[in-house]
Amino acid sequence: MKVQSDVNIGLVGHVDHGKTTLTKALSGIWTDTHSEETKRGISIRLGYADIEFRKCNKCGEPLCYTTAITCEHCGEETEFLRKVSFVDAPGHETLMATMLSGAAIMDGAVLVIAANEYCPQPQTKEHLMALDVIGVTDVIVVQNKIDIVSKERAIESYNEIQEFVKGTCAEGAPIIPVSAQQGANIDILIDAIDKKIKTPIRDPNKPSRMHVARSFDINKPGSHPNDIKGGVIGGTLIQGTLKEGQDIEIRPGIENKRGGKNAWISLKSKIIGLNAGGEDVDEVGPGGLIGVATKLDPSLTKADSLSGSVAGEIGTLPDVLHSFEMETHLLDRVVGTKEERDVAPIIIKEPLMINCGTTTTIGVVTKVKGNVQVTLKLPVCADKGDRVALSRRVGARWRLIGYGIIQ
Ligand code: GTP
Repeated sequence: MKVQSDVNIGLVGHVDHGKTTLTKALSGIWTDTHSEETKRGISIRLGYADIEFRKCNKCGEPLCYTTAITCEHCGEETEFLRKVSFVDAPGHETLMATMLSGAAIMDGAVLVIAANEYCPQPQTKEHLMALDVIGVTDVIVVQNKIDIVSKERAIESYNEIQEFVKGTCAEGAPIIPVSAQQGANIDILIDAIDKKIKTPIRDPNKPSRMHVARSFDINKPGSHPNDIKGGVIGGTLIQGTLKEGQDIEIRPGIENKRGGKNAWISLKSKIIGLNAGGEDVDEVGPGGLIGVATKLDPSLTKADSLSGSVAGEIGTLPDVLHSFEMETHLLDRVVGTKEERDVAPIIIKEPLMINCGTTTTIGVVTKVKGNVQVTLKLPVCADKGDRVALSRRVGARWRLIGYGIIQ
């Protein structure tokens, strides 16, 4: 049985439209596990869940699609189709940076839109724009909360969605009416995801490259020094494979405070354990979300301190950039707010929020003629040709304004 999933699917959309409830309806896993999140009732960090798509060979379509081992209609054992990872991005407007770093590891996405509110809501628009900017093209729209609207409102909402997705990466995408809370039409959704969101073609022979989305210290407070376990990083491999016992490098790594400006030291360590799909494995390949246990001092990995880094074979990672030039592509309008406005040109000395892979950093603009040049507050490990998302401060918030291609 394959334990590692082969595709990462993002759940995106406006706050409270039902992304976390949908993940639970699909998997039985509640992704909001952090205490602060539970208190505030919104997803703050990225949550994720691995889910098996299965099919009953006795029941007809769409009833046959399920995530359960036993068919709920006829009681037969179901057949394994595919394992997928869901990345649950936060919908609150203040958490756009987290959403953008999540989008960097998505191969496809499910845009969740609640039928009981007018479409588009600000983050419905901003998240769809983010998918467009980052280049996620396999999209499915879920018209959620169908249980609390009248038939007339359901049709009206469907028309609003059709109108809204015109000209975007979601144009022509299937729109599936769902009640995540009641578990209605989940079978149709599984079928649509399975057909529309394909596994990207990847070359397993390229050097390994992992985008780190989370990092942890897994030790309990007060553990005996002999029992202390090394730091763990979590994320996704975009190419290559990682094996237990292999030496890896993590970049940009940590800042050497005594080394003066721009002194960063890449971290090198040995892989002592690998986890994919909740199970320990000897080797992992691209796709899905993986956990990598290392010999690193856990103080280096605690509280997501390495999130945004890139990990891979020693000597094969891209350079650490403290500044770069980029070719910019700006949106026409700033979205994400109730009152939209035009995107003004980038100006000298302006700070931009830059999302590069899973990193979020600030770049101060040092040149605008020809390509735009930025000096970064936190360096990034990136290649020429990589795409970065650009946001600008509008009022009190960062708003997505377009993307850049590193030159
Ligand atoms: P953030 O992660 O904070 O952006 O929110 P979210 O999109 O994950 O929304 P969440 O799943 O937390 O749901 C928000 C509220 O809507 C909760 O009270 C859910 O119970 C409710 N809800 C979600 N799906 C449905 C649905 O299909 N029908 C009804 N009636 N309520 C729903």
